[in-house]
Amino acid sequence: MNSHVLIIKIPYMRFVINGGRKLNGHIKLSGAKNAATKMMIASLLTSEPCALENFPDIGDAQITEELCSSAGSKIEKQQNTFKIHTPVIVNSRVVSLSRRNRIPILALGPLLARVGEAEIPILGGDKIGPRPVDLHFDALTAMGAEIEVLSDRYIARAKNGLRGAKIALRFPSVGATENSILAAVLASGRTVVQNAAVEPEILDLIKMLQKMGAIIELGANRIIYIDGVSGLRGVRHRILPDRNEAVSFACLAAATGGEILAEDARQDDLITFLNTFRRIGGEYEIKENGIVFRRKEELWPAKIETDTHPGFMTDWQQPLTVLLTQANGVSQLHETIYEDRFGYAQDLNLMGANITVDRKCLGELDCRFKDKGFNHSALIAGPTKLKAANLTVRDLRSGIAHVIAALVAEGESVINGVEEIDRGYRDLDGRLRALGADIRRKL
Ligand code: EPU
Repeated sequence: MNSHVLIIKIPYMRFVINGGRKLNGHIKLSGAKNAATKMMIASLLTSEPCALENFPDIGDAQITEELCSSAGSKIEKQQNTFKIHTPVIVNSRVVSLSRRNRIPILALGPLLARVGEAEIPILGGDKIGPRPVDLHFDALTAMGAEIEVLSDRYIARAKNGLRGAKIALRFPSVGATENSILAAVLASGRTVVQNAAVEPEILDLIKMLQKMGAIIELGANRIIYIDGVSGLRGVRHRILPDRNEAVSFACLAAATGGEILAEDARQDDLITFLNTFRRIGGEYEIKENGIVFRRKEELWPAKIETDTHPGFMTDWQQPLTVLLTQANGVSQLHETIYEDRFGYAQDLNLMGANITVDRKCLGELDCRFKDKGFNHSALIAGPTKLKAANLTVRDLRSGIAHVIAALVAEGESVINGVEEIDRGYRDLDGRLRALGADIRRKL
């Protein structure tokens, strides 16, 4: 690929959905998007071949593949296994990649470790708030990197290599924790990350790095200790199943009144969600090969606050909100991770929902967004009958909310900009058709 070509993707694909059917059957979860892309980047830390099993064929993986290829990776895909080998970093300026997701910033650590310099584009990704990168840069700077911020890119240098450091994260950011770990595994000396995020995808990344020869310890109180090593070897690793897909399909089953087995879903990763689901009248059964989701006749409202793991994940609130539009009473949702993640409430209201967004912290505790003017709480009054609509996807998770709402609503809905959904859900329409959904993909 020519690394100087700017790729601009214009959304043009749409789903046409005829809703109102109960969806039944089984659906196999893909490997987790938010682990797979990080593991592709982690493979850049070694000159030896790596293989990732249960690899999800999704848009975000393709974007990351372009990044790795432009850095010099040789890539081969065999069924669900992704093989990647980067004997030499041929290019550490991966700036030509358009701002299509937030993964390039994680490449800084591996590129600095292997060649001492890196250039990445200003980040893109979902439009769900300002999404600053200060914590990433504070961590890398503490480890000896020099970072220059230009209008379209970041330039990082660590001529004398990275060194271990004490990193106290002001907020347990997933990305900044991953960045610190990826930079620290080959740094000289010990790195201590305080207030680290401990999402299951991060723990899976740690397992992969451990197999590669890294020394990473999980201490009490979310402190992670990393002792840098001089080199890492190749690895074969199976990516954990996508818990966000599991939650999406659980809400889909309950919202349409059907019964769905989410194959490979793991109770360990879903404990908080399963409690919420049961409280509102959802039913689940843990099986050998996954979790079956359905609902009782009546659904009840809930009070939910999103949080870092092991709390209720921010990526779960959108599919759950659709389900809560069918609950008998007023539910309350307080989003504490992203300041601007309720844009899709307008879309659901167009479909007949009754959702009011609020700037107040509608939860037990005030959050970082108190008095900042962000609409980060919502009241969802139900039950409301949903009707078909013509919508455009705002971001990945609100896109899945659109799809679930359209599958519940009577009549034909059109959902434009499906590429956003393809970033995180493999062949969503094909898999939903296998559950009995009337959904077609159109140009
Ligand atoms: N933040 C800062 N400074 C930073 C980094 C983050 O202030 O330097 C703030 C953010 O603005 C945000 C909060 O910290 O308010 C949380 O951000 P975090 O860094 O934890 O999120 P992320 O790494 O950018 C990942 C997932 C998101 C998921 C969040 C939270 C990936 C590629 N993305 O984002 O997933 O919502 O963690 O769990 O792993 C999605 O899959 O649709 C998605 C958005």
